[in-house]
Amino acid sequence: MSGTDLLGQFDGLNEHQLRRLLVEHLTKQKLGLYWEASAIERDRALNADVVLPRLAEVFPPPPPGEGRGEGAPLDTPPHRNLIIEGDNFDALRLLRATHRAKVRVIYIDPPYNTGNKDWVYNDRYVGANDRWRHSQWLEFLYRRLTLARDLLTPDGVILVSINDENRARLELLMDEVFPGRRLGSITWRTRQGSNADQQCFLSVDHEHVLVYGNAGFSFNGFNKSYEMYGNPDNDPRGDWRTSDLTLGFSYKERPNLYYPLLDPKTAIAYPPNPDRVWVYASQARLKEGQTVQAKTMEAFIELGQILFPTEQRVATWPTLDALLAAIDAGDVPKSGKTPLLRRDLPNLAFWVGRPVGFGRPQFKRYKADLRNQTQPLSSWVVPSFEEGSYEAESSFVSSTNQEGARMVAEIFGDRAFNYAKPLSLIKNLLQQATRPGDTILDFFAGSGTTGQAVLELNAEDGGQRKFILCSSTEATKKEPGKNLCRDVCAERLRRVIAGYGSKPAYTPEQGGEFAYLQLDKVEAADAHHEVDLEHAFQMLALKRLGAVLPVPEGAIKRLGRVGDCELLLCGKVKAATLKELAVWPAQSGAARLAVYTLRPQTLAEKLAARGVEANCYSLMDAVLGGQAGSAA
Ligand SMILES: C[S@@+](CC[C@H](N)C(=O)[O-])C[C@H]1O[C@@H](n2cnc3c(N)ncnc32)[C@H](O)[C@@H]1O
Repeated sequence: MSGTDLLGQFDGLNEHQLRRLLVEHLTKQKLGLYWEASAIERDRALNADVVLPRLAEVFPPPPPGEGRGEGAPLDTPPHRNLIIEGDNFDALRLLRATHRAKVRVIYIDPPYNTGNKDWVYNDRYVGANDRWRHSQWLEFLYRRLTLARDLLTPDGVILVSINDENRARLELLMDEVFPGRRLGSITWRTRQGSNADQQCFLSVDHEHVLVYGNAGFSFNGFNKSYEMYGNPDNDPRGDWRTSDLTLGFSYKERPNLYYPLLDPKTAIAYPPNPDRVWVYASQARLKEGQTVQAKTMEAFIELGQILFPTEQRVATWPTLDALLAAIDAGDVPKSGKTPLLRRDLPNLAFWVGRPVGFGRPQFKRYKADLRNQTQPLSSWVVPSFEEGSYEAESSFVSSTNQEGARMVAEIFGDRAFNYAKPLSLIKNLLQQATRPGDTILDFFAGSGTTGQAVLELNAEDGGQRKFILCSSTEATKKEPGKNLCRDVCAERLRRVIAGYGSKPAYTPEQGGEFAYLQLDKVEAADAHHEVDLEHAFQMLALKRLGAVLPVPEGAIKRLGRVGDCELLLCGKVKAATLKELAVWPAQSGAARLAVYTLRPQTLAEKLAARGVEANCYSLMDAVLGGQAGSAA
């Protein structure tokens, strides 16, 4: 929008209205992110139409004789994995009506707005010099994130990939959409080595994944490794390992934890480390009434949990001078290279005339006392090229962007898509964030890496995760026939499911299937005339079963069974249909009928007159419900 257009907005306002606007402007909350939502070119995807799903393809295709139009068998398995073609603003509005609070994990990798032909807005790429570039991008994401927010389960999480340059902007936007839900961010290495071409002071080799979760969410964590645990002394409390008995504070910072440790059995004294005091407080030093979180050192000694050295050098200095001479000669107990007795330390006289141990007491840590999970680290993604050089317990391995490109090339035989994320990154994120029955949504699906990750994860742990992928066609004025969703995203999944290279195929039982949906839009006022039975059938299938299935022939269209209830759809009910409905419970063995129809009241009465009890619902209310409020 130009400056003249902007000024034009105020032409019709009187002085009072202008004053009010000014006050509003001056008192508006400004802490946080601000972007010029009203100045930018309008996002043409924003609309208030009703979105209706149309089934365009099922994969694998049905065997001959079972296709659409020839009457799908009654028990055609529903397709739970979905690929939705179109602008994700529409796809998200549809999902808000069908999947509200049903998606456990959303992963997205939106266009980063680099100015490098990575983002199509209103049919054209947004260039680096576009005046409203950042505002357009923020408003574009804001609109979609606010829709996506409603899809998350109460324990759901959204994970968002972003580059270093745009991370701060996006994080503030996420704070706005998901207030108080920030759980942190994860860094991962996108490349190996530095990029000599980059015109900046730092060669950027990392990206972020922002994590925003609802209250009930937590990562799965990593199973601890118990390799170090054993029971050489047949301790009745089970396996144990030794661990450090000190804490990273100096004697000046924590004077109460700096005290001589005495082995009551041998009377040998152990000097504390002036740079790392004891972890546990001494009973002798507690003030009256003072309690401690863990047990005291004396209590642990009593329990046999402090391991005093059995073989060590023990020295006794008869006088203070002898001790000082030993200190000067460096002949005193040490921790590593740190001498534990020094001239400047307090109460040196304590060490005179008593046996002093040169070994270090240790703590006996029992396996039974451990939590068996560790939380992942925010720098948890260990690059594959450095695997083995990290403590891997709280990390996992992800490859670089090269893996994403290589995998696309392997599946397609060429570089069909340039921005694919490494499969290992998404798979490991999902492995941490999902449970085996979860629904996972990616509404910037690109080449469909998330779909492949879900299939692989299910194959590894026998899970039944489902994916919903949304992708635009990326058609522009210059390339009107381009269809990224059909030809790259869905095609990748077709090839992965069929098995590519040396990779095995996936059966439908293993989740190797999907339904491909296109979206039709009708104006809300015309919806009652324009919604056809195919739209209605898929809409109801999505709402009631979370899946789609080929539309059966015939006047009564069976959606499936929920519990002991048959779900049926009939448009207009003629005499023959009524007859068929009346015998349906007996023939199907169902206890109840739920029928979606145009005149529910009339149908319920007619069925009741025939002795059939059925819950009849308004077809149009069920189809159109949930889309109100989706106006742009
Ligand atoms: C960075 S790519 C995602 C790549 C993906 N993670 C992968 O591994 O293949 C972003 C994708 O978002 C798609 N996209 C951009 N705007 C969209 C919109 N409004 N609706 C749906 N998809 C969109 C682009 O076509 C692009 O493929």
